[in-house]
Amino acid sequence: MHIQVAIIGAGPAGLLLARVLELAGIETAVLERRTPDYLRQRIRAGLLEQGTVDFLSEVGVAARLKRERLIHQGVKLAFGGKRVRIDLEGLAGRAVSIYGQAEIQKDLMDAHAGAGTTIIYEAQDVSLHGLTDSTPRVRYRQNGLTHEMACDFIAGCDGFHGVSRQAIPQEVISTYERVYPFAWLGLLSDTRPVNDELIYVNHERGFALCTMRSRTRSRYYLQVSAHEDIEDWSDDRFWTELKRRLPRDAARGLETGPSIEKSIAPLRSFVAEPLRYGRLFLAGDAAHIVPPTGAKGLNLAVADVRYLSRALIAYYRSGRTDLTDAYSETCLARVWKAQRFSWWMTNLTHRFPEASPFERRAQAAELAYLEGSRAAQTVLAENYVGLPLSE
Ligand code: FAD
Ligand code: PHB
Repeated sequence: MHIQVAIIGAGPAGLLLARVLELAGIETAVLERRTPDYLRQRIRAGLLEQGTVDFLSEVGVAARLKRERLIHQGVKLAFGGKRVRIDLEGLAGRAVSIYGQAEIQKDLMDAHAGAGTTIIYEAQDVSLHGLTDSTPRVRYRQNGLTHEMACDFIAGCDGFHGVSRQAIPQEVISTYERVYPFAWLGLLSDTRPVNDELIYVNHERGFALCTMRSRTRSRYYLQVSAHEDIEDWSDDRFWTELKRRLPRDAARGLETGPSIEKSIAPLRSFVAEPLRYGRLFLAGDAAHIVPPTGAKGLNLAVADVRYLSRALIAYYRSGRTDLTDAYSETCLARVWKAQRFSWWMTNLTHRFPEASPFERRAQAAELAYLEGSRAAQTVLAENYVGLPLSE
């Protein structure tokens, strides 16, 4: 079997890449180790930059998104009894959209089902071979049988724990990493959101975030220690802790209810360079991870796919290799800016257990500066809504 582009991973990056390439007449096959049901239920991101919405729209998978999303023109920060609203629309000229990653996943899966894309679910032991040959190969097992697929290119869209990045020899890849000494405990519930906009809270007991999926479904996060056990967090304990961290009026108005989902995610900043090795290209979380504070992970994955699809289409249409050659550098320039912002937002809003009294005062001063400076707010807004893509 020979196909043009083999895609490892059917998360948002892999499925979106398959969608763009299929629309351009390029043959793809997607290999995914999980089941479709598992993917449809995975709760993750919720905030989309306008550039992400525009690209999903261009490739015909945004009809439901445009109907159901909530558009937010501002975002709030709460600290030391104060609340600051960052006017995203007024300061950066753009708003952001709230629409769950699980919904994007479903929309992409439905579009592929309609178009008959080859997606091989429950593919086990996926391995990559001959990455520097003209015809690399992908091997996998399914139902006890081993299969091999030859292709022109492989796109590694298999997330942080995938096999694609691991297939690159150690001596040609550099990694940059920061692991934070805390995690996010997330809870999803069918309750009305406490505010019509997101609230990022810096509290002495730790960070909290109030976000949402719709007008009747809320998502809340609490900073917890990196070693926390989810079994120790009853719904009651979660709501009680959240109330203690929220501004008083928000705590009073908080609607609580049974959780639909609860999970703990560690926080990490990570970049692997370069994003290309021979005929393998990495995209999305396979190549980089950001702490979720800046809401950039999914948006970066979509930006990578934009660059990669453009490069592969140029190659197949006119034999051009300049864009595939520039792929890594083009993506990394944007990735590092999003890394910097996500790291900065995390430093600004979280309580670091090892912070010295000096560092605590400096953090408080930075929040106070943000409160009083339109320039500082503009910097936050411009990054939060998403930096422009280079042409
Ligand atoms: P993934 O979604 O991880 O998909 C990779 C796929 O590859 C998976 O389906 C996996 O099963 C498959 N796979 C893995 N290994 C193999 C293998 N060996 N063989 C075959 N298949 C394999 N981002 C935002 O932009 N905004 C937000 O608001 C936001 N909030 C977040 C909140 C939390 C709590 C978390 C944890 C993340 C958040 N993110 C956010 C980040 C976002 O969810 C990720 O960046 C996004 O899922 C990346 O997509 P991806 O397709 O690159 O990787
Ligand atoms: C979410 O809605 O899940 C979300 C929103 C903003 C973030 C992180 C997560 O910064």
